Amino acid sequence: MQEFLSSLGQVSAIIGAQWGDEGKGKATDIVSEHFDVIARACGGANAGHTIVVDGQKHIFHLLPSGCLHEGKPVVLGAGMVIHLPTLLEEINTLKEFGMDILPRLTISNEAHIIFDYYKELDAKLEELREQGIGTTKRGIGPAYMEKAKRSGIRMESLNKDISGELESAAKELNKTYGLSINSDTEMTNLKNAQEVLGGCVTDTVTQLHGYLKEGKTILIEGAQGTLLDIDHGTYPFVTSSSTTSSGALQGLGIPPNALKSCIGIAKAYCTRVGEGDFPTEVEGEAGDRLRERGGEYGATTGRPRRCGWLHIEDLQKAAMLNGITHWNITKLDVLDDEDEIPVGVGYNGDEVIYEQIQGWKASTVGMTKFDELPQNAQRYIKYIEEKTGVPVALIGTGQGREEMIIKS
Ligand code: IMP
Repeated sequence: MQEFLSSLGQVSAIIGAQWGDEGKGKATDIVSEHFDVIARACGGANAGHTIVVDGQKHIFHLLPSGCLHEGKPVVLGAGMVIHLPTLLEEINTLKEFGMDILPRLTISNEAHIIFDYYKELDAKLEELREQGIGTTKRGIGPAYMEKAKRSGIRMESLNKDISGELESAAKELNKTYGLSINSDTEMTNLKNAQEVLGGCVTDTVTQLHGYLKEGKTILIEGAQGTLLDIDHGTYPFVTSSSTTSSGALQGLGIPPNALKSCIGIAKAYCTRVGEGDFPTEVEGEAGDRLRERGGEYGATTGRPRRCGWLHIEDLQKAAMLNGITHWNITKLDVLDDEDEIPVGVGYNGDEVIYEQIQGWKASTVGMTKFDELPQNAQRYIKYIEEKTGVPVALIGTGQGREEMIIKS
């Protein structure tokens, strides 16, 4: 464990290698304990991670999972798009459990605000598309549209009167899409947020660079997954932000050479929510088996996830794009009952070429040592290492925090 942790360096990022939902939370939970500062860089409440507080499960969307470690500063970076009522709700949930995060929470003055009407616009745009993307309808696309159009409203305006801006947005929205804004709700949301969060909004770039100078360690929690990246993902079936490690650095205002390691998170198989290409998808019985064993239902939307086999090309691409230095292969135990495990290794025309890896047909649930794993399960892990050239450092063997193999 110590060897693994010390190999991570001063700044490390945890990045999903597939289409999100790889189970980043557990590695984050384990690793963040050893970092001084926890930061989230991009995206918004489209992310969903399950946090267990006092034995009770909560789904958080904006606060990073590492926020549960008392005393550690939590930074929401400039690349984020923030729905204020959702953030307030998460802060309140923590408060109910006796955790007051406000004194250690900072929010970039450059992050953009998601208004309620962005969600309606998100749904409307989806309706107008010939082929829908299957968005989470959390207003993410519209928020980044406004940002790119340079008419977004940023957190720095939290303490200002923005009723004029909302008025003109209302007119435009009504003219273009026939939607109407409830300005009263928006203003009330802003006022409530102002009272609670007014003191948290700051120049987080200067703050983070201050930490770096002091020698503090920073853990960056990525959101979504590499294949949902707006530039390098399966466009147009992607989210609207940069989900790679470089996107996260940009979102926080940290230079590329500061990143010393990147933990790529990949399921031992693969899932996707929403529309878009999924070459190794399996429908029917095998797909249902993976879904049931893996509990593959969206944390944010509750949608059943599409399930399929690991695709080595995805991992190779993710390793390349993110500079992945360690893998965390999650949910290995979900494959325990498989006779043979197909793994996509490339294409013959449009057809995926599969290699069949012999299954292990034995329970790996709760294992914590690599040597305890059945031979074929060890082979599966080594196969991933060989094909990607990246060592596997962590292997998930169950839901619990302890159910993890730390290999190096
Ligand atoms: P949006 O980010 O809500 O615009 O959704 C765009 C696409 O990204 C849809 O296919 C969503 O299902 C997917 N997506 C967005 N966030 C996540 C996530 O955190 N996990 C998995 N899929 C996501």
